[in-house]
Amino acid sequence: MILSIESSCDDSSIAITRIKDKKLLFHKKISQESEHAKYGGVVPELAARLHAVALPNILESVKKYFSELKAIAVTNEPGLSVTLVEGVVMAKALSVSLKLPILPINHLKGHIYSLFLEQDTNFPMDILLVSGGHTQVLHVKNYDEIEMLATTLDDSFGESFDKVAKMLGFEYPGGPIVETYAKHGDSERFNFTVPMSNSPKLAFSYSGLKNQVRLAIEKETTDEKIKSDISASFQKTAVKHLMQKIKKIYKDKKIENFGIVGGASANLYLRARLEEFCKDKKANLHVAPLEFCSDNAAMIGRCGVDAFNLGKFTNMDNLAVHPRSSEFAKNV
Ligand code: KG4
Ligand code: ZN
Repeated sequence: MILSIESSCDDSSIAITRIKDKKLLFHKKISQESEHAKYGGVVPELAARLHAVALPNILESVKKYFSELKAIAVTNEPGLSVTLVEGVVMAKALSVSLKLPILPINHLKGHIYSLFLEQDTNFPMDILLVSGGHTQVLHVKNYDEIEMLATTLDDSFGESFDKVAKMLGFEYPGGPIVETYAKHGDSERFNFTVPMSNSPKLAFSYSGLKNQVRLAIEKETTDEKIKSDISASFQKTAVKHLMQKIKKIYKDKKIENFGIVGGASANLYLRARLEEFCKDKKANLHVAPLEFCSDNAAMIGRCGVDAFNLGKFTNMDNLAVHPRSSEFAKNV
């Protein structure tokens, strides 16, 4: 079995995954959202202190598996350096005391593996990764070979939802609240411009759209109806931008399997647009169960199984945290 640890942001999570059949035997996540909500966003030092309490707490529940463990998988990049350290320190302590090797896991690769919980991988696969920190279109050939087909020039998709939510006075994390408000809103009320629609560049940009929303909010008295209409108009434009670029990327390419991962892949409006796209392209759409879209250790453990089988162990002295992702995907 593999014990996996995730602490790259504000979720403390540990999982146990059986190697031979990838079965998820244990998974627990303690979210810190309510603690950070009063500050309107994640406070890294507070998050680190909360991990230092929550992770040992969860570890108590998995002690019964210790004798059957073969490795410790831990997220060591990318993320907040002070919070990544909490998971890595625990991995090192377990490695020494239980005499187990460590598998360093890239958090973004972990998100990709949220599609393969308790099942085999289905590579090659094209992936849209939409999280709080990243917006990427990837062609994943296998564990080691990932090509980056497009990425964001500024804010990420999830981040733009969080920033719009903050401007509308919603609690952190605001992404899901914007989606809820959008359900009852008129998406035609505000005519926001779709970013980069005339640019041939295969890239994303969300900072301009965020500013358009800010100007609209400044002009209006933001009652509940206006909040819904702004949310709906923003969500429609944000997703339209993603879809325009995705259609451009795959204009002359065949797709067999298309996956969507990351916290913002829980957005049902986005999922519906991608379903239409995949139907047109005769591609199979793969989504993770909703509870495993956001950060969790189950995806890190599943990725850890492949890392284990490929012998991706590291020596303890070489295990460092990297706040930015190193060599995750190759630009093509
Ligand atoms: O993957 P994740 O849990 O954390 C990172 O690795 O960043 O993604 C969190 C992001 C946040 O920006 C959050 O607002 C966004 O995903 N998110 C959503 C929805 N649920 C979460 N964005 C739009 N619609 C949603 N339903
Ligand atoms: Zn994430």
